[in-house]
Order: sequence, then structure tokens, then C-alpha cells
Amino acid sequence: MPKIPQNVRGARFTGWGTSLGHNTVTNEDLTKTMDTNDEWIKERTGIHRRHIGGSTAELSIASGSAALQMSGVDPLSIDALILATTTPDRCVPATSATVQNALGLRCGAFDINAACSGFVYSLVNAHGLIAMGAERVLLIGTDTLARITDWTDRNTAILFADGSGAAVLESTTGSGHLLGWDLDADGSAEEILFAERGGYIQMDGKEVFRRAVRIMVDSATKSMNAAGVTADQISVIVPHQANIRIIKAACERLGIPLERSSVVIHETGNTSSASIPLALFGDFGQVKPKQGDLVLLVGFGAGMTAASAILEWGAQ
Ligand code: UT7
Repeated sequence: MPKIPQNVRGARFTGWGTSLGHNTVTNEDLTKTMDTNDEWIKERTGIHRRHIGGSTAELSIASGSAALQMSGVDPLSIDALILATTTPDRCVPATSATVQNALGLRCGAFDINAACSGFVYSLVNAHGLIAMGAERVLLIGTDTLARITDWTDRNTAILFADGSGAAVLESTTGSGHLLGWDLDADGSAEEILFAERGGYIQMDGKEVFRRAVRIMVDSATKSMNAAGVTADQISVIVPHQANIRIIKAACERLGIPLERSSVVIHETGNTSSASIPLALFGDFGQVKPKQGDLVLLVGFGAGMTAASAILEWGAQ
């Protein structure tokens, strides 16, 4: 569990934006192509509707450009673009190259694939770049899972969707907002959640569920220990939006009341790399952090990866 060294240059968010797949698909719509029903999906997953459509580059350009606009920074002053995605538009080049050009950036650009933990992986890497002298990093988490979902498979199609969330991270004179972090992976669990090249997502849902709760709690605990904070000090938890029952179980085990959890899954479904930024920056009536709040981001995903971070919201 690495600790952040003292006097390292910190960073904080100065702008953000989100985008969703172009078309809304309700649970009722899904009943036309598979044996399922609205009541089961709502009760067993918390999902009411999801949004699908658009490429990873398109959704990233929309959220990235909103984040740049909110921060007010010149695109030419961005030193790096990190795009977290499991669904790049092409094998080569990285989708970040397409997005970099479209947003008018002139900087290094690369993709990170850590599945649904991707945004937190990117956030930690971006802080590393800022500690090494970068002034501004544009972070984007985007997935277009509709393209790798079999829309006749009720085991997966009820869950997955498309979306994007982005943030501009700028260096600070003080220690910044990141107080602790944890990145984890267990490659021995690869077979419970995967998609072959050109194929659809295959998932052992029950096993993913079982492990998800454990690794979220484990990662969150490591981050809290690294930051020297306890669960009762966390004002807002922003968990990966995979299943409301996973969120409830993880909150319960962490001792964080569900009311402090950002929940947007009813509107977004599971958007993988976009899930945490949509829950943090989106506008779906969810709980939001206020200045000075301690925020816990925690994700898990295929790999199986896990990642978490403790942020002091608005820290200079
Ligand atoms: O980013 C990470 C990605 N993945 C995840 O996080 C997935 C984690 N797992 C899950 O979210 C849940 O395991 C699922 C939502 C995938 C499935 O929920 P479950 O409560 O584990 O359902 P189950 O597979 O145990 O099935 C319970 C019942 C079964 O019927 P019987 O045998 O009890 O009569 C299923 O046949 O529900 C039935 N069922 C459905 N019924 C209507 C399973 N899927 C559906 C469905 N619609 N879509």
C-alpha cells in the first residue's frame, strides 16, 4: 500500500463534463428481444434505463470538450491526455489519438484498459505525471459496451451501456486533493469476465458479484489507511455503478451509510470506465461532495481489477 510522499506536488479538478449514449433503452424495450421484465431488472440491479450509441471517440470528445470549457484552460496547455477505456474504436491507434486531435490538444495521449477501475487508475497515473512536472492532464473515462454486448443475452444485456466522463486535473501549489490511493489486480480471475477480440462479453455474474464486494471493501480500506482516515469521516462514496446490491453490500461492510453513496445506476446502467466519473460529475440527482468533504472513489472490474482513491474535495 504505497503512501504519498510528503511535499510531492499535488493536483485538483478544475473542470469536468459527461456524455451518454445517444439512444435511451428502457427495461421494457429489452423485453422485446429477451425473456426478462422491468420488475426483475429494477429489483436485482437497480437499473431503470440505460443509454447506448456513439463511438468511444465521439462520447470522449463530448465530455472532454465540456471539461475543458468548464476549466477555461487553453487546450494547448494540456500536457497529457489519458483515456480509460475497455472499448477502443480501433486496435491501433489508441482512441486517445483521435480524441487528442479532435480536441485540439498537442500533448502525449494514451489509453488505459483497467475495465471498470479505469478512471481511478487514470487518476492515480495523472497525479504521477503532475508530480513529475506536468501542469495539466485531461482524464477521460469512456466505454461503449453496447458494441460488445449480445443483445439477446439477458445475463449481460440488462446491465451494460455507453457513456463518458472527463476531468481536467491541474497542479496546485499545495498538496492537492489526493490523500490516499490503491490499485489492485488479480489476473487469476480473468475467466469470470472477458470478451474475445471481436466477441461479446462473457460473464459469470454470481462469481463477479461475490468477488466485487470483497475487493471493493479491501481496496477502499487500503486507501483509507494510506490516507489516515476512517469510514466515518467519508462524506461521499462514489462506487462503480455495476449493481445497486453490490453498492449496498460494499457500503454496509465499510460502515458507510447508503445515503452517503452516489447512485446513478438507475439512469446509466453499467458504463465501465465512465461509471465513476458519471457518478461523480453527472447530474442525476445523486449525492454530491461539498468543499472540504472527504470523498472515496472505489471501483472493480474485469481483470479482476480494483482501485480506490480518497480525495479532499476542492483542496487547493
Ligand atoms: O462491471 C462489472 C460487471 N459485472 C457485474 O458487476 C455483474 C455482477 N453480477 C450481477 O450483477 C448479478 O449476478 C446479475 C444481475 C448478473 C444476476 O443477478 P442474480 O441475482 O445473481 O441472478 P441469478 O443469476 O441468480 O438468477 C436468479 C433467477 C434465476 O431464476 P430461477 O432459477 O431462480 O428460477 C434466473 O434464471 O433470475 C433469473 N434471471 C432473470 N430473470 C429475468 C436471471 N437473469 C434474469 C433476467 N430477467 N435478466
